[in-house]
Amino acid sequence: MSNAIEAHGVSKTYTHSGGKTEALAGVDLNIPAGRVYGMIGRNGAGKTTFVRIGATQLALTSGSMTVLGHDVMTETSKVRLRIAAVPQESRPLYFLNVDELVYLYLKIRGAEAHDARQRTDAVLAELGLTSVRKSLVSHLSGGMRRRAMVAMVLASDADVLFLDEPTTGLDPIARREVWTAIRRAIHDGRTVLLTTHYLDEAEALSSRLALLEGGKVRLEGSPTEIRDRVRQPFRLVVSGVLGRAELETFGTVSAVEGGFLVFAKEAPARELAQLALSKGARVSLGPVTLEDIFLQVVGKAIDADDTPLETAA
Ligand SMILES: Nc1ncnc2c1ncn2[C@@H]1O[C@H](COP(=O)(O)OP(=O)(O)OP(=O)(O)O)[C@@H](O)[C@H]1O
Ligand SMILES: [Mg+2]
Repeated sequence: MSNAIEAHGVSKTYTHSGGKTEALAGVDLNIPAGRVYGMIGRNGAGKTTFVRIGATQLALTSGSMTVLGHDVMTETSKVRLRIAAVPQESRPLYFLNVDELVYLYLKIRGAEAHDARQRTDAVLAELGLTSVRKSLVSHLSGGMRRRAMVAMVLASDADVLFLDEPTTGLDPIARREVWTAIRRAIHDGRTVLLTTHYLDEAEALSSRLALLEGGKVRLEGSPTEIRDRVRQPFRLVVSGVLGRAELETFGTVSAVEGGFLVFAKEAPARELAQLALSKGARVSLGPVTLEDIFLQVVGKAIDADDTPLETAA
């Protein structure tokens, strides 16, 4: 499959009054077309910087990036015709109502009136915005305003969509409406670069993921590939009866609310589950979550000797 976005050694150093900040330090990524690509990482990891470079809002310092084969630095206008972006901090035009916001955006992008009307109606229904369509954007709640921004971009005909934390601040139902709309965009053959702090969301939507830390790619792959690289791929939560020392013979233990969390390989995980049940403890057993991996990899980034991965990234 072809790549929608290719990044080669992308670096970005911001120069400001306080000095310099290296936000990206040599990022190489191939983002396949027609899929959701998830980008995760702690605050300040460099996600927004990467997205803004791809969306031609920010110049890179070194390296190169292409979107649909066009260089973001030298073929800016060609890139812009093919993309749409929801920035992390968006200030929509507050003097418009929701309907006008979406409709006029589509018209500005060159849609015919009839097509713009149909697309606007469809996206407002899909994102649960029909009842507020005549409300001024300035009168909406924060989550509603965010949804209006997402609606604009998803309704567009752009081939590559940059969604920087599109669901931050959305209620759980609205969040799933956005997921549905993103999946529809993929079904229509588009590419989505999604940043999110909701790791369940990253996992549910993304065909591949990159975990950024300190401006570098720390982990990259499909959710399955990423899980396969973890040395202890099972998680157990054990409450009662068994003490920490006993649990430590099965895997890596940490104290959590109401018990202990144990990461273990498959055989000890099964053994521990049986032992815990036979002793009357409460136990849950499942595969590690993306959140576990995130906490293990990024939480221990300073402690390089104790890598939770089979091979260092
Ligand atoms: N305009 C700017 N001027 C100076 N430094 C900046 C600027 N924008 C971002 N930075 C710095 O670059 C680094 C990466 O920021 P970036 O916004 O890309 O992170 P992020 O991964 O999107 O974080 P978050 O999860 O908080 O949105 C941070 O150290 C940040 O302080
Ligand atoms: Mg950001």
